[in-house]
Amino acid sequence: MKLDYRNLPGRNSMQIIEYIRKHNGAWSSPYPFVMSKEGSGCFFKDIDNNPYLDFGSQIASNPLGYNHKDVINVVKNYAGRSPIKYAGQDFMVKEHADLLEELIQICPKGLDAAFIVNSGAEAVENAIKICMRRRPATRYCVSFESAFHGRTLGALSLTNSKTVQKKNYLAIPVKRLPFDENAPEKLLRLINDEGGSDNIGSVIIEPVQGEGGYNVADSKMMAGIRKVTKEHGIPFISDEVQAGMGRTGKWWAIENFNVRPDVISAAKALQVGATISNKKFFPEPGAISSTWGGGQIIDMAIGMQIIRTIKKDKLLMNIQLQGNYMNKRMLEIESISNVRGLGLMRAFDVSSTRLRDNLVIECLKNGLIVLGCGKSGIRMIPPYIVSSHEIDLAVDIIKKALVKCSHKKFKHKGSICRFVNCAEASI
Ligand SMILES: Cc1ncc(COP(=O)(O)O)c(C=O)c1O
Repeated sequence: MKLDYRNLPGRNSMQIIEYIRKHNGAWSSPYPFVMSKEGSGCFFKDIDNNPYLDFGSQIASNPLGYNHKDVINVVKNYAGRSPIKYAGQDFMVKEHADLLEELIQICPKGLDAAFIVNSGAEAVENAIKICMRRRPATRYCVSFESAFHGRTLGALSLTNSKTVQKKNYLAIPVKRLPFDENAPEKLLRLINDEGGSDNIGSVIIEPVQGEGGYNVADSKMMAGIRKVTKEHGIPFISDEVQAGMGRTGKWWAIENFNVRPDVISAAKALQVGATISNKKFFPEPGAISSTWGGGQIIDMAIGMQIIRTIKKDKLLMNIQLQGNYMNKRMLEIESISNVRGLGLMRAFDVSSTRLRDNLVIECLKNGLIVLGCGKSGIRMIPPYIVSSHEIDLAVDIIKKALVKCSHKKFKHKGSICRFVNCAEASI
């Protein structure tokens, strides 16, 4: 698909966006176009026929790209059938067993059971619940600075990346560790100063922090935290909602650190949420449930197929290969800093939040989707099938956009500023 400069939003998109803005209770300045069903690989079109190269992968939840034949085949299987959602903890479907089987096969040894839920936040919520259930003396949980674990109240308590997400909400008690090599010692100090390890419900970490800035954990810190949690019997959760399911070139991001967690929370690329642990770690029957848990029949079938296709097409290798290539090409871009990441989960910083926001929009106007993260970071998370040619296309667009946006008097023009968080947006 040919990418060229366009004014956004297009006329068809504009009407729908205006309506959604008026009536959607959770407006958050989304990308200013409406998706069509057309697309192929890393490209898709909006309803105004504008093509895009997608280096955002639906926020890491579209790992095989658009209209992948394996996924389309799964969807065809369910055409003309209803219901599509079952009350899956009470009325079982075979897809539940199939997904569990496929998922457990790729999990670290000892993690042999999963509770399938509806979202990433729910996967985290249930991870902290199953840990607390075993620890009646829990007074607080532990997470990290700049962490993002979701927006339900329990998960939100652990989240620490943006104040707008937390204001006025009651929280479960949480203490924070720095996301650096001082964390193990700080955890030991907490244990000593705050009445012992039994008070701690769990320690949760993102091996590569997502929304907080694509910060890769220090491997000594990771080993140290695991050592302390193991010695003191504190459950250790790896939140892999964004970084898991192959995104970093290994099935689970924590595997890059040779550390085994007690619990993994997964979602996004898996298509459903999953709290994964050892069967013995889960509480007694009835303690956790959800109407649709294990009953999202198409989502589970697609999630299972995604795992199979990643294996069949050796996509972990492509993720490593193209991830390294992307890193190399990113290092060539002038006036950016802190190029970082693992696999196809990469980011860089520019000199200010304003420049970052302008850059995201300028890329978009030229047909490239990238996402912001942290204070002034841009993240690049293409589908696992991305090619070197597509990475070249993306880097060229970023380079040109960066030169343009870096001019002192640069300003976006047109109706796009009514809808997005560019530096000039008034919303
Ligand atoms: C690491 C991590 N945990 C939890 C969540 C929450 O997932 P969801 O938005 O599906 O509730 C996210 C979402 O971005 C995430 O990146």
